[in-house]
Amino acid sequence: MKLLQAKTAIVTGAARGIGEAIAIKFAEEGANIAFTYVSDSSTDKASALEQKLSALGVKAKAYKTNAADFAASEIFVNNVLAEFGQIDICVNNAGISKDNLLLRMTPEQWDDVMNVNLKSVFNMTKQVTRPMMKAKSGSIINMSSIIGEIGNAGQSSYAASKAGIIGFTKSIAKELGSRNIRCNAIAPGFVETDMTSYLKDGDSADKYKSNIPLGRFASGEDIANVALFLASSLSNYITGQTISACGGLNI
Ligand code: NAI
Repeated sequence: MKLLQAKTAIVTGAARGIGEAIAIKFAEEGANIAFTYVSDSSTDKASALEQKLSALGVKAKAYKTNAADFAASEIFVNNVLAEFGQIDICVNNAGISKDNLLLRMTPEQWDDVMNVNLKSVFNMTKQVTRPMMKAKSGSIINMSSIIGEIGNAGQSSYAASKAGIIGFTKSIAKELGSRNIRCNAIAPGFVETDMTSYLKDGDSADKYKSNIPLGRFASGEDIANVALFLASSLSNYITGQTISACGGLNI
């Protein structure tokens, strides 16, 4: 029996990177997938992923919707419920960075990062709670970051948003535990995606890797495996936790 057979999962921001890896991993384990993307430039990638997931024998649909928009999130979740009938797993993965030293950071940059990274988690979690309470079960997985745990110069908005996710995750775990709804976070270190493409250049990549006990950046699949554990019944007694997946960088 596959780990997520007959489950339905939402994954936000899944047209590429970690979200795409999670959508594929979950589909390989039998889950139906409703995933989001936000920009027109991702439409081709989103439909390619939709086809790839369907070829794995599950139901899959891409939705163009902005996770930072509360009203749009409500419409999205209602559409998923109408088309899939249930929501068992919600992965709040969508995220951006607009890095700048505090002296140069604009209020607009701060707001954009908080809205996409943190408010989106509130938006989606609030919407999926209702069907999960009705079903008396659910797993919510929020994508934090090692930067939310240790901070980083030039990343105060990103760090604050990712630290906020950890506090939110713990609170929701306490609020919804009695309803058998679990809420956990993942704190990846450096993952090889478009977001970290600036690290690809030889010298700086080697410098970063030399500080990582496992000596390499993570792949999307490394993070997807943690998400699979948190989504499945293997983690039935785990809630309110932040799982570090950073190759040992934060020890
Ligand atoms: P990415 O930039 O490759 O992918 C992010 C996805 O989110 C993109 O598909 C983008 O279109 C989507 N997105 C952005 N704004 C959105 C919105 N308003 N609504 C819906 N979708 C939106 O980044 P990556 O690396 O795959 O990151 C995924 C998550 O993991 C993010 O939350 C990121 O902060 C987090 N993370 C990434 C790390 C890394 O080293 N790549 C490390 C730690 C955390």
